[in-house]
Amino acid sequence: MLKCKSILIGVSGGIAAYKVCEVISSLFQEGAKVRVILTETAQSFITPLTVATLSRHQAYTDQDFWQATHSRPLHIALGEEADLLLIAPLTANMLAKLTYGLADNLLTNTVLASRCPILLAPAMNTEMWEQPVIQRNWQQLKLDSRYHTIGPGSGLLACDRLGAGRMAEPKEIIAEIQSLAYTKGQQDFQGKRILISGGGTREYLDPVRFLGNPSTGKMGLALAQAASDRGAVVTLIHGAIAPELLPKSPNYNLISMVTAEEMETAMISHLEESEIVIMSAAVADVKPANYTNYKLPKKELSLNLKLEPVVDILAKLGTLKKDHQTLIGFAAQTGDIVKPALDKLKRKNLDIIVANPIDTPEAGFGTNTNQAIFIDNKGEQKNIDSCSKLELAHRLLDFVKIRALNKV
Ligand code: CTP
Repeated sequence: MLKCKSILIGVSGGIAAYKVCEVISSLFQEGAKVRVILTETAQSFITPLTVATLSRHQAYTDQDFWQATHSRPLHIALGEEADLLLIAPLTANMLAKLTYGLADNLLTNTVLASRCPILLAPAMNTEMWEQPVIQRNWQQLKLDSRYHTIGPGSGLLACDRLGAGRMAEPKEIIAEIQSLAYTKGQQDFQGKRILISGGGTREYLDPVRFLGNPSTGKMGLALAQAASDRGAVVTLIHGAIAPELLPKSPNYNLISMVTAEEMETAMISHLEESEIVIMSAAVADVKPANYTNYKLPKKELSLNLKLEPVVDILAKLGTLKKDHQTLIGFAAQTGDIVKPALDKLKRKNLDIIVANPIDTPEAGFGTNTNQAIFIDNKGEQKNIDSCSKLELAHRLLDFVKIRALNKV
């Protein structure tokens, strides 16, 4: 998800620092370039060796900051290459320093010498968190649009108390980083209604056997996440997606279905309210002509299965589309990807088509990465090299934005 993204993490001195180790490890697994600054007190909780091992890169401390060097000053170089700076845990002391713009160590100097968004994850004892001075600082800092915040939540604290001040969980922090690293907090699709299809449809022959395809739905999920992170009101109509891939508490509407016919009905019923429609589902092209409502014994299975075509949902949407709506299709192709995609763009009356090679190891069904050529109905093309599906989703939204805004 975070391939090509550079995430800088500033750790200040609190017991929740141990949880940041999980964040560092997960970010590295997600493909991000992870750099970590440890304040002096943070090193009482986690060591530079722990961080270096998890991030596969040296951890930076104040010692590195004060050392003579022939390269660029560290606080400037680190800030410049970061897409996002996470400060976790944010202690009472670090909060006060940020509020008043103090710069007395590597981390606070890096904050002031950079422009990237900053995500703050506070953690402290409830008494400390509820102090009026802390609350004043916190509210003051939130007025600065550069700062984004996560938590603190309530729960059992290291002081054995149940109360507010518990740092957000690593999984929540990762999800927020995924969103912010791409959007930088921008809400450029605010209030736009976007309808997306994803996953594969299944056409059953009997209760256990079906015709389908290996689509995992990752591209549809990435599109839904990207669009809702940018402020859109999103509905994702999806076929088969493994439950563990589905978000636990999505900030968009998820509607599940099985067959192409069900997907068609759902897409059409949501079409009118939608300004942008993206059809990324892998729809089965044919279905068994007959369905048996009991499991067919092997000897009753025909070796010449009678099939019939299923409706082409995208082509149908193309006939129903109004001028203010933008319709986007995908063309999963092997070999030459542009010519057949152009043909589908015209045939299905689309505004944009995403020509998608499925015969390379870094793209297609089930992969975490993808590559594509976006083509619009004026023939303009944009190549997107192999990147995470989330990155591709954001690049597609950038491409859609210019064209969709021209229609308003
Ligand atoms: N699609 C659809 N309904 C179908 C088949 C495809 O809505 N029954 C949509 C897909 O979601 C995708 C686009 O049409 O957005 C192109 O799908 P693809 O499988 O690449 O192409 P087909 O139109 O099925 O053509 P072909 O199989 O001949 O390449």
